[in-house]
Amino acid sequence: MAETEAGAADWDFQDVRDTDARYDSYKVLRRRCPVPLSFDGNTGAPVRSVMRYRDAQDVLRDPATFANSKRTRMHIRRPPLESDPPEHPQIRRALQPFWTPPAVKAFEPTSRRLVRELLDPLIAAGEGDLAAGFSRPLPAQVLLTFMGQPAEDWAYIKRHSDDVRPIIFTSQAQRDLYANADAEMWDYSRRMVEDREANPRDPKTDIVACLLSTEIDGAPMDRDLVLGTVRLIIAAGHDSTTQALNICIHHLATRPDHQDHLRRNPEAIRAAIEEILRYRSPVTTMPRHVNTDVEIAGTAIAAGSILHVCFASANHDPEIFDRPDECILDRKPNPHMVFGQGIHGCLGAPLARQEMLVGLSSLLQRTKGFGLSGEPGRMKGHHLGYDALPMWIEPA
Ligand code: HEM
Repeated sequence: MAETEAGAADWDFQDVRDTDARYDSYKVLRRRCPVPLSFDGNTGAPVRSVMRYRDAQDVLRDPATFANSKRTRMHIRRPPLESDPPEHPQIRRALQPFWTPPAVKAFEPTSRRLVRELLDPLIAAGEGDLAAGFSRPLPAQVLLTFMGQPAEDWAYIKRHSDDVRPIIFTSQAQRDLYANADAEMWDYSRRMVEDREANPRDPKTDIVACLLSTEIDGAPMDRDLVLGTVRLIIAAGHDSTTQALNICIHHLATRPDHQDHLRRNPEAIRAAIEEILRYRSPVTTMPRHVNTDVEIAGTAIAAGSILHVCFASANHDPEIFDRPDECILDRKPNPHMVFGQGIHGCLGAPLARQEMLVGLSSLLQRTKGFGLSGEPGRMKGHHLGYDALPMWIEPA
């Protein structure tokens, strides 16, 4: 690893080498270079990252210094992620009622039905690609139903979300694919907003109707911000859950001892999901815009810089986690950052947890065992996940 010096990268934050190699780099960086410099593979812009848990926590708890509203990859800002106080808490407050424990609990029968419909054919066949046939459709079907959209739209949403996932472009064809998929996702979101304007729904039960009736500083929320918020939820609400499910399924497929333990102790599944995702976190890193000159762990960072918070590295920090490189299914306490922390901590976490619990519990209960029958396909991009998990499945 290169010495830290102006102009020389310490690390590639978009590193997509195999997962174990990635975690080895995190370990070296946390010890020797906790705020490494990288360069964005597309723009060439310098990017710093925080690798240690406590530094990550300091950044996430200080939205005045480490902000989000100035940073957007798209032409319209997408709250609540791309938003700062005082706007951010007003949008969060409006959306929060949809994700309270009782609201999410009321959705559980729907999650169960969708899980059953997807697992039935896979279990009957005794084999199949669990990434393509299960983790890919489930979260998009759940999200669309949750948002009052037809579940059948899932394949359209999924296809375009895959193509807007951040990757380093290596050809004009990839850029064109990205631009087309981005336009489709905005169109879909725009149609949702226009539909609720033409056919008003109850703001207490419909997320888009709720946004259309939300006020910011006493005035109706700007229509572009409504659109941006819908666009964010349409993206954030399924992709990470797909990858979280894939990570859990891959882990269990390669650890039959963990599989057996959870089959015998179903009450342990909830904590096990948290630990598997701490061990291998789907959202590896997220950026912030630095508003004022700061120093973190002895590294000066100038106002205007982009600073990434590396959740995946923070989740292996030995200052916080005992034996961090082991997956200990009943780890307690487990203050991981899988869903972020601070004001931008994941809004949809209760729904994601429910889908994962229902989905993985069913898979374990309905099988005697499952394991890889071929090479898993690694997902494109710098977040962690799989796009193919070929499995043998032994029905219970
Ligand atoms: C296992 C699945 C999921 C994971 C690992 C995950 C992870 C995250 C993380 C790490 C953040 C913080 C980003 C940051 O600080 O920059 C976040 C924010 C967010 N997530 Fe999730 N997420 C998941 C599922 C969901 C679902 C199902 C929804 C919606 C239905 C959702 C909606 C959001 C939203 C709206 C935000 C932005 C919150 C804000 O800025 O106030 N996520 N998520």
